[in-house]
Amino acid sequence: MKWYLWLLNLGLFYAASEARRDVRRKLTAQLNPDCPDDICDEMSNITSMVHVSSQGANDAIHYIWDLTGKPSALVALCGPDVTLKIDWRNFMDDKDTSVQFSEKPRYVFGVVLSRLWVYNDEEDVGTFTVTNTSQINSFPLHNFAWERLGFHASDDSVEITVRSRGVKDLSGNFELSLATFATPDHGPMTPHLMHTENSTQIDLILDSVHTNETFPQPRFAIEVVLVAMEPRKDNYTVVVRKSLDDEFTPGIFKIINVASPASLNASSGGYLQYRPVSYTHEERDVTTSTQTYQSSPATPNNAIKKLNNTIFRSIFGDSVETMLVQALNVSFGGSGDGFYTKYNYTTWTFVVGYGAPLPDKLSLFVVVVATIGLGVPLLLLCCGGCYVCVKRVRNNT
Ligand SMILES: *[C@@H]1O[C@H](CO)[C@@H](O)[C@H](O)[C@H]1NC(C)=O
Ligand SMILES: *[C@@H]1O[C@H](CO)[C@@H](O)[C@H](O)[C@H]1NC(C)=O
Ligand SMILES: *[C@@H]1O[C@H](CO)[C@@H](O)[C@H](O)[C@H]1NC(C)=O
Ligand SMILES: *[C@@H]1O[C@H](CO)[C@@H](O)[C@H](O)[C@H]1NC(C)=O
Ligand SMILES: *[C@@H]1O[C@H](CO)[C@@H](O)[C@H](O)[C@H]1NC(C)=O
Ligand SMILES: *[C@@H]1O[C@H](CO)[C@@H](O)[C@H](O)[C@H]1NC(C)=O
Ligand SMILES: *[C@@H]1O[C@H](CO)[C@@H](O)[C@H](O)[C@H]1NC(C)=O
Ligand SMILES: *[C@@H]1O[C@H](CO)[C@@H](O)[C@H](O)[C@H]1NC(C)=O
Ligand SMILES: *[C@@H]1O[C@H](CO)[C@@H](O)[C@H](O)[C@H]1NC(C)=O
Repeated sequence: MKWYLWLLNLGLFYAASEARRDVRRKLTAQLNPDCPDDICDEMSNITSMVHVSSQGANDAIHYIWDLTGKPSALVALCGPDVTLKIDWRNFMDDKDTSVQFSEKPRYVFGVVLSRLWVYNDEEDVGTFTVTNTSQINSFPLHNFAWERLGFHASDDSVEITVRSRGVKDLSGNFELSLATFATPDHGPMTPHLMHTENSTQIDLILDSVHTNETFPQPRFAIEVVLVAMEPRKDNYTVVVRKSLDDEFTPGIFKIINVASPASLNASSGGYLQYRPVSYTHEERDVTTSTQTYQSSPATPNNAIKKLNNTIFRSIFGDSVETMLVQALNVSFGGSGDGFYTKYNYTTWTFVVGYGAPLPDKLSLFVVVVATIGLGVPLLLLCCGGCYVCVKRVRNNT
């Protein structure tokens, strides 16, 4: 009867993972909340700030996506009745404390995309380990103007998509999509990252970007700044995990988690999660995939300056200095893939959330296949066994 127990186990496991799907938070979203006409109309589609409140049983998670300066996403765990107040005039002037929660958040985490690097990968190694500064160009992302292409909010998800034409010396199509969901699930778009009910998914596309001809072998990298309301003596930890299967992200068996100390120790901190994959074509599949690499998180010299022109300074002012602020570089492309100019297309998708990054769970498909593949032979074996026994007993009598 072992197979029976085994099936039961599998069933229970699946029921347990399925139960997580019942987790549902109530989403309320606003684009440019209470922005006076003279500020938001005038700049029509290039002023985008989204506030989402995601109500749980005894608390609310607030997301703020700010695309007015350096693209930033903030996740704040607050009490159930907390509201957000924005002094738009001061906010647009980058003044401290121009954005305020009505009550101090219990926890805050977030990321800032602070700049884009273009480097000449002379040795074709893929990683961003170039030291010759004449082989590196840096483009601060607060100089990019992000035009809004779409904003969509429903009970299940909230999403904004913006595009920039780039800056002088680096023109092209830069696209960012930010989305959050009411329930945990896999994202709709390849690499189908797993998101929890407490996370935001961010997708970046660098399409037809004209890189400088002085770099014949160009690759891109991005500087990501992580901010957490935690003691600044600690470090973020990069954990590379092997995943169970590649059903959702063909060919990619690794998951990278960059976790804050509180996320790592107590599942009550912030984290960034992604698969180390970048796609070189709109059709995202295994044939158009290449790698990504990240550096280890390092503390910037001046956190205040790093977080200038971001929502973090608008809320916390100079006290961002007391928070855990570290940055890492993520580069796109791997050795032998022909560099950026082979396809002139690169993507990166990652999830930013509160809690602990979820381990990838087995899908129904895998469970069914495993059940049939292992269960049926066992069943046949047992039936056969019974049949032989019964026959023997009958023959004996
Ligand atoms: C840096 O790169 C430039 C341009 O390729 C080259 O002229 C220079 O010698 C390099 N410097 C070092 C220290 O390798
Ligand atoms: C944004 O506004 C500008 C000027 O009003 C217009 O040229 C552009 O097409 C708009 N972009 C989008 C995506 O609607
Ligand atoms: C290319 O890079 C060189 C050196 O960094 C710079 O002088 C030149 O203006 C750049 N050209 C373009 C089109 O960006
Ligand atoms: C990509 O762009 C560069 C110029 O920036 C061009 O030389 C190259 O042919 C383009 N590659 C493709 C595949 O279109
Ligand atoms: C954080 O990282 C730095 C540099 O790698 C190291 O010197 C320091 O000891 C680390 N701090 C902790 C608390 O692990
Ligand atoms: C996390 O756990 C490690 C070892 O168990 C400990 O040294 C560290 O102080 C803890 N950090 C936090 C933020 O609790
Ligand atoms: C922050 O950015 C503003 C421009 O937006 C600049 O005037 C100011 O000097 C910057 N502050 C710091 C500390 O870098
Ligand atoms: C990112 O790369 C640049 C250029 O190599 C380097 O100056 C910077 O320190 C790196 N940042 C981090 C956080 O490693
Ligand atoms: C989501 O946040 C709530 C707090 O509001 C927490 O209790 C829960 O464990 C978090 N979920 C995950 C998957 O981390």
